[in-house]
Amino acid sequence: MNKLAACSTSCVMRIINILKSRLVSHSPLALAHHVTSLCNARCKMCDMWKRSPRHTDDLSREDIFAMLDDAKEAGMIGYIAWGGEPLLREDLPELLQFAKKKKFLTMLVTNGFLLAERCKEIAPFTNLIYISIDSNSPLHDEMRGLEGILKNAIDGIKACKREKIKITINSVISNLNLDEIDGLCELSKELDVPIVFEPMQIVSEHNRHLKATDEDLKVAFSKILKYQRSGYKIDSCTEYLQNFSKQKKYVCHTAKCYVTIDAHGNITTCSENKKWGNVKERSFAEVFDSMEFKEFCRKAEKCNKCDVSCVAEVSLAYSLNPRFVLGSIRNLL
Ligand SMILES: C[S@@+](CC[C@H](N)C(=O)[O-])C[C@H]1O[C@@H](n2cnc3c(N)ncnc32)[C@H](O)[C@@H]1O
Repeated sequence: MNKLAACSTSCVMRIINILKSRLVSHSPLALAHHVTSLCNARCKMCDMWKRSPRHTDDLSREDIFAMLDDAKEAGMIGYIAWGGEPLLREDLPELLQFAKKKKFLTMLVTNGFLLAERCKEIAPFTNLIYISIDSNSPLHDEMRGLEGILKNAIDGIKACKREKIKITINSVISNLNLDEIDGLCELSKELDVPIVFEPMQIVSEHNRHLKATDEDLKVAFSKILKYQRSGYKIDSCTEYLQNFSKQKKYVCHTAKCYVTIDAHGNITTCSENKKWGNVKERSFAEVFDSMEFKEFCRKAEKCNKCDVSCVAEVSLAYSLNPRFVLGSIRNLL
C-alpha cells in the first residue's frame, strides 16, 4: 500500500512538472546523458566511437549524482542514459538506481552487445530500453563493425523480456539498409517487441554518403506505414511516418523538451552544436532561466531541418498536434 501511495505521489509530481514546463516555464523535462563516450561498436553511420580514446574524461559517479540532484531541482523528470555504449560503464546500475530513487523515469539506449550479460543488474532501475537494430541479417554486424552484435542484441531482448523490462527496437534507416525493413518488421513480430524507425542524420563527413535520398525515404516510410496499418507493432507515430511521404513540416520544440549532456558534462542542445556550459559549473535552472536560452528556444521554432525522431517526433508530441495525438492513441490501442 505504501509503495502504491509513493507511486501515485510521484505520478502526480510528474504531471505537475509537465504542466509547469508546458504552460509556464517552458524548461526541458529530460536529460539525455552520454554516460560514456567509450563504444565497442564501429558503426558506419555514427562517428561517436572515434571519441572513445577520450573516455577517461567521462563525468565521475559523484558528478553524475550531483547533476541528477540539480536536474531534479530544475523540475526535470526523465533520465536517458546513452553514449557511446552505456553498458560499457561499470557503475551504470548505480547511476540508474540513483536516478530512480530521485523519481526520474529512466531510459537506456544500447546496442545490446552486453545486454543479456548485464540485464539483471539494471532491470530494477530501468523503465524502458531502446535496443538499436538496423537489420535482421548479417548486414547488422557489418554496419556496426562488431561480430555477433545482432545475436547478442536478440539474446538481450529475450533476457529483458524475462526480467519484464519494457523494450523497443530502434532502427535507423540509411542507404545501407533500405532493403531491410521487411526483415526488421518480421523480427519485431517474432519477438513480440515494438519497433520504431527514423532516418539517419548526417553527423559529419563520416556518414554523409550514407544518407538516403528523399525519394528513397518516401518509399521506405510508406512501406513502414503499411506494416503499421496491417497491425505490426510499429510504435513510431503515424503522423511522423507520414512526414516522409507528404513533406509535412513541424515546429521545433526540442530544446524545450530535453537537453543532451555529453560525456564530459557539457550541456548541449540541437545536435550538440549549441553548448550552454558544463554541469560542474552551471546549474540547469541558471541555463534554462537565461534570456539566451529562451531566445534560442524561440528561434528554434522557425527551424525544421532535422528529420530524426528525437527532434521531429518529439516536437510533434510537444505541439499536441491533433493527428499526432490520434496516431499515438491508435498505436497504444
Ligand atoms: C549514438 S547511439 C548510442 C547508444 C548505443 N551505443 C546504441 O548504439 O544504441 C544512440 C542511437 O542513435 C542511433 N544513431 C546512430 N547514428 C545515428 C545517425 N547518424 N542518425 C540517427 N541515429 C543514429 C543509434 O542507432 C542508436 O539507436
